[in-house]
Amino acid sequence: MKMLFKYLHSLLILVFIIFTFVSHSFGSTNFITRDLSLNRSNVPKNILVASFFGGTHLPPVLEICKILKARGYNITVVAQGNYTAQSFSYSSFPQVIIDNKDFITPDLVIEERINNLKFNRLGLFRYLKKLSISSYVPVYNTYKKVAEEIKPDLFFCDHFVNNPCYDLAWKLGKPVVGTTVALSLLSISPYKTDPLLGCPINMENENFYSRFKCKILSPLQSIWIVLTTVRDLNIQRAKVGVEPHWDPKGRISNILMLFDTFFGFEVPSAESPLYQEIGPILPDTYPGLTPSLDSFLNDHPRTLYFAIGTVVLLSPQSTSILLKSFLELIDLDIIDGVIWATTRMNTSELLSLNNSDIPISQILNNNHPHIHITKHAPQFAILSHKNTKIFLNHGGASSCHESIYNAKPMLILPSCCDQFGNAEKLELAGMALKISKDDLNVNDIISKIKRLLNDESFKLNAERLQFSSKLNSKRKYRGADLIEIILNNAMYDGVKDENGKFKINNENFLKDWITPDIKMGFIKGNYLDVYFVAIILFLILFCVFTFTSFNLTKYFCILYINGNINFKNYLKFKKE
Ligand SMILES: *[C@@H]1O[C@H](CO)[C@@H](O)[C@H](O)[C@H]1NC(C)=O
Ligand SMILES: *[C@@H]1O[C@H](CO)[C@@H](O)[C@H](O)[C@H]1NC(C)=O
Ligand SMILES: *[C@@H]1O[C@H](CO)[C@@H](O)[C@H](O)[C@H]1NC(C)=O
Ligand SMILES: *[C@@H]1O[C@H](CO)[C@@H](O)[C@H](O)[C@H]1NC(C)=O
Ligand SMILES: *[C@@H]1O[C@H](CO)[C@@H](O)[C@H](O)[C@H]1NC(C)=O
Repeated sequence: MKMLFKYLHSLLILVFIIFTFVSHSFGSTNFITRDLSLNRSNVPKNILVASFFGGTHLPPVLEICKILKARGYNITVVAQGNYTAQSFSYSSFPQVIIDNKDFITPDLVIEERINNLKFNRLGLFRYLKKLSISSYVPVYNTYKKVAEEIKPDLFFCDHFVNNPCYDLAWKLGKPVVGTTVALSLLSISPYKTDPLLGCPINMENENFYSRFKCKILSPLQSIWIVLTTVRDLNIQRAKVGVEPHWDPKGRISNILMLFDTFFGFEVPSAESPLYQEIGPILPDTYPGLTPSLDSFLNDHPRTLYFAIGTVVLLSPQSTSILLKSFLELIDLDIIDGVIWATTRMNTSELLSLNNSDIPISQILNNNHPHIHITKHAPQFAILSHKNTKIFLNHGGASSCHESIYNAKPMLILPSCCDQFGNAEKLELAGMALKISKDDLNVNDIISKIKRLLNDESFKLNAERLQFSSKLNSKRKYRGADLIEIILNNAMYDGVKDENGKFKINNENFLKDWITPDIKMGFIKGNYLDVYFVAIILFLILFCVFTFTSFNLTKYFCILYINGNINFKNYLKFKKE
């Protein structure tokens, strides 16, 4: 008995040891961590950032560059205006300033002002045409000079009026990436157009006539301007030895375009892999509230923030209509505060309007208890304050993104460019209403602001978009990643030039992204040949079938009629 017990005991210990051993060897399977490190020591690193417009077009581009700089890339900016040196966040980027006194002539300045005060679609095209043609050679030469100096491995082009950037990159055989907010202007989806082209941003609910007009007639209206622009541009190109190019969009087919936009805001569409959405691109830090703004906001729990961007001009008449509406809204106790960022507004023009209803000088001297005026406002900080309830602005992309990020419903007064489209997108998204410069009136403004504040749906839609914009705002890292992938690919696909730099052919460099249909040509790429043959076969089969069934029917009819006749004859015969 004792022996048995001992035996069982040893057995138990043995089982325990085996179990421990087995469980140990299975349970603690060796894990390794995925190695995410990249050896970038050989990757080409010089990036030339070129923005014709400069100013408000630079922050999204420079946000991506900040990420690249932290990864060891070398950035040089070329743009109009003394931007980076005077900015707080981007002063570490060296900038070459485009000397614009040759091409921004006084009559162009006046033309821009007229266009901005009263928007005229074809007028804007004519203005852009003049600007792009008169600036082409000087801007091209500026880029070229910088490129000879820094020997860039990649060009990063802000798309607006910037043909020289793409052309130079193609000519030098350097990879090039474009960026813009205006996906709706470049999209190939037929239902996506733009108010700039005289059509709604989304054709989903339009009737046949409207769709016909937008696809066929509207483009015809501006075809002359478009064709002459391309023709004149090719004359400028010839002056600096660049091959002509007939695509009005510029040399952007087969290159990567990064779009500072996101689903929810943008009308949905399936785009080529070369078109990548990486927006909303927003900085990580913003200037905070000044003490006076902070105390104003804390004292006014229902504040409207009014800021018309740096580019837009508002006539004194329009401004006074807006001011009158604000005063009535304050009287009605719908809002109790207004922060007005005057930026580029000429307030002395406003004073000359003798409007007895509005205490203009009191407001301009910041003596009105409910209206706070400031020249430069920390916009993001104002929008993020809980007492800011509504944002009246011009619908510029970055203002829209900032308002969405802070879930603030908007009243939009678009006046140029992509602003009309942005206003329509946000109206469709249910977080904004728009008013028109041509038809500004106090009652309309008051009723729309009332709706924006009282109808819960505007706030809810704004919060829905806020969530997605917060998550999508991480995609600026994706933008930087894509640029890195291109630089790395250049190392494998390029041939070394005399400087030891890689030269590529932009026509087929991005073979991983260019869809095969482009290379297959229009007919094969759209499978038109296959559909054509299928339709012919179907028609032949249909004809054969119809012919045969017709003949068969005829045959049976004859049989039947003959049969009937025989039958009738038979009956007749029987009766007799
Ligand atoms: C990175 O690659 C370079 C060149 O191939 C090599 O000399 C260097 O040792 C590598 N660095 C690391 C950390 O692997
Ligand atoms: C970075 O670019 C500057 C010119 O903008 C140049 O002087 C410098 O040598 C470059 N650095 C590297 C590491 O290429
Ligand atoms: C640009 O701004 C910086 C900082 O304000 C200034 O030091 C510099 O002289 C300016 N450059 C030009 C060309 O105006
Ligand atoms: C503002 O308007 C006044 C009156 O029209 C004009 O005299 C002044 O030059 C303008 N100022 C600017 C900076 O445009
Ligand atoms: C505005 O009113 C002042 C006095 O009230 C008058 O002197 C001036 O001429 C008026 N200006 C205009 C443009 O009507």
